[in-house]
Amino acid sequence: MVEIRSIGVMGAGQMGSGIAHVCALAGLDVGLYDIARDRLEACLNVVSANLGRQVASKKITEEQRREALSRIKLLTDLEGFADTDLVIEAVTENETIKRKALSQLCPELKPKAMIGTNTSSVSITRLAASTDRPERFIGIHFMNPVPVMQLVELVRGIATEDETFEAARAFVAKLGKTVAVSEDFPAFMVNRILLPMINEAIYTLYEGVGTVDSIDTAMRLGANHPMGPLQLADFIGLDTCLSIMQVLHDGLADSKYRPCPLLVKYVEAGWLGRKTQRGFYDYRGATPVPTR
Ligand code: 3HC
Repeated sequence: MVEIRSIGVMGAGQMGSGIAHVCALAGLDVGLYDIARDRLEACLNVVSANLGRQVASKKITEEQRREALSRIKLLTDLEGFADTDLVIEAVTENETIKRKALSQLCPELKPKAMIGTNTSSVSITRLAASTDRPERFIGIHFMNPVPVMQLVELVRGIATEDETFEAARAFVAKLGKTVAVSEDFPAFMVNRILLPMINEAIYTLYEGVGTVDSIDTAMRLGANHPMGPLQLADFIGLDTCLSIMQVLHDGLADSKYRPCPLLVKYVEAGWLGRKTQRGFYDYRGATPVPTR
């Protein structure tokens, strides 16, 4: 079986930072790529701060934090992936952007390199078809926040070889995480179940059944969810939530997946949740304030 020693992460966003974090902590060499140098540096600061939280709660030592950080190399050129065993694509959740990123990536990789995609919802088979190696392509879907969440969904495309699947499974085990295997259906398992719940919470707000605060309180205290669904939507990013609902709606052709018009409106307004400091909560002050 192919052993994965070096990892590439394409895209220095929320998920890219978490993936780089857990890979470096597991002793793997990590190349973190983005087109913008300032985004890469901001991402490394996030990784450093999150490793610092783990030091503070004694989950890791200061030495492990320093070693992990030293294993992450910032790249603004895809040529830096020439020797990498597995590159995980974690760019924006948009099929066109992902396909473009993958087609730019392939010529830079060694022939045996594997590609994983962290897509939340898009068909693995379709993304694989935009690469030169569908047999070494697989969905490796991490959950946010990656350093905390135990689960990784593994999703094979129609062409994914057994060897690729087993190497990916061993890689996830090396990170100390647990695999759930999903078939290649729109949004796989976690998001197929979670996002309609979030969308329904937004309908509940849209129809005036409850306020932001009452809906989130209801689900935190009434269903024991660690975060209310609207708080979680802001955490995931409302643009990502909308993309996933659109993939479900288009892919499963069922009106039950229709994105709530209020979600659409928030995204059109550029209110994308925490990352833009405004979503169902306003994050500009010391504590988030519900907006409706
Ligand atoms: N890195 C490292 N550690 C982190 C962290 C991060 N990014 N975020 C939180 N932590 C740690 C904290 O340091 C704290 O550690 P401690 O218990 O050792 O002190 C612990 O996690 C709990 O954090 P907090 O005390 O700050 O806050 P909470 O208790 O509210 O927990 C939470 C935060 C873990 C995010 C929790 O609210 C939660 O589990 N929320 C739900 C998250 C969820 O559902 N994620 C899945 C989303 S779906 C998805 O990702 C799929 C995608 O495709 C859309």
